[in-house]
Amino acid sequence: MEIKSVMVIGAGQMGSGIAQVCAMSGYKVYLNDLKQEFIDKGLSRIGSNLSKQVKKERISQQDLVAAMDLLQGTTDLNDAKEVDIVIEAAVENMEVKCNLFSRLDEIAKDHTILATNTSSLPITEIAAATKRPGKVIGMHFMNPVPVMKLVEIIKGLATTDETFAAVENLAHDLKKSPVEVNDFPGFVSNRILMPMINEAIYTVYEGVSSPEDIDQVMKLGMNHPMGPLTLADFIGLDTCLYIMETLHEGFGDDKYRPCPLLRKYVKAGWLGRKTGRGFYQYQD
Ligand code: CAA
Ligand code: NAD
Repeated sequence: MEIKSVMVIGAGQMGSGIAQVCAMSGYKVYLNDLKQEFIDKGLSRIGSNLSKQVKKERISQQDLVAAMDLLQGTTDLNDAKEVDIVIEAAVENMEVKCNLFSRLDEIAKDHTILATNTSSLPITEIAAATKRPGKVIGMHFMNPVPVMKLVEIIKGLATTDETFAAVENLAHDLKKSPVEVNDFPGFVSNRILMPMINEAIYTVYEGVSSPEDIDQVMKLGMNHPMGPLTLADFIGLDTCLYIMETLHEGFGDDKYRPCPLLRKYVKAGWLGRKTGRGFYQYQD
């Protein structure tokens, strides 16, 4: 099946990145969010990312204009009837995703693939909210999307080989490196990454060390590009908490219990970089 057009749902940090790489690869992209202001923010983030690439002479001004022309913001989910694949990157919440997938199933054409960028939620359960489980799949990009090469592709119980092949081809076309992963909580990436981040939060909670020093240990001692607390702020502490809850519930194992300090920060609205405060404070 040939994919020519894409709808990305959620114009946040992941959705805008996915829309950017799709438009740069020549796909027509509908970028959907709940409010026009969220779409405008996403589009302006894409514009500024591409402008930096022009300044660094990595792409031409014509490439920028061509990509921006392929992007169309929309608050109307009915535009899903225009596309060959929907990539959902809304908030990490099963109720929100099931609701979206059931509506998309009614709107989209029969051939349209419904993919989710979920970090951890079961693909099989999201697929069960539709009457086309064979065409539902996980397409898990990493943050920041324009930079990170990996895409985890996750088959639900009913996902067909044809759907998998189409999404694998799309990932290659976006110049990403796809890896096939089975449908278990957290897949591979977050099953390994998030317990490390949660443990780093426990080391702050228990007063073992400061966020700065914990990050320094992992940067200088283990050569990580970002310390785990900087990374948690970068991912979003709400997303980190949702993922830990999915691991905890999905495996029923207390080794995945979210740190109370993580819960406290999320309840306070300290969600990291996107709200200006998490383990660190941010000016812009
Ligand atoms: N959006 C787009 N591009 C970005 C960016 C962003 N948010 N941040 C950095 N970049 C680009 C820069 O423009 C620069 O591009 P060029 O090479 O074209 O010049 C390049 O990335 C390197 O940036 P910098 O030199 O400014 O900074 P850096 O060398 O420190 O790299 C980083 C920044 C790539 C983010 C690096 O710190 C890193 O790799 N951090 C770890 C990221 C990570 O672990 N991501 C996975 C998170 S987990 C996940 O995504 C899964 C999940 O479900 C939660
Ligand atoms: P974000 O908070 O930056 O953006 C989410 C966007 O979705 C917001 O603009 C919000 O208004 C919009 N939204 C919420 N409900 C919606 C709906 N019903 N219809 C349309 N838009 C809706 O979040 P994010 O960090 O971009 O994460 C999005 C998804 O990507 C989550 O499932 C998350 O787990 C996953 N993910 C996140 C990361 C990360 O590092 N942050 C990495 C990989 C995957």
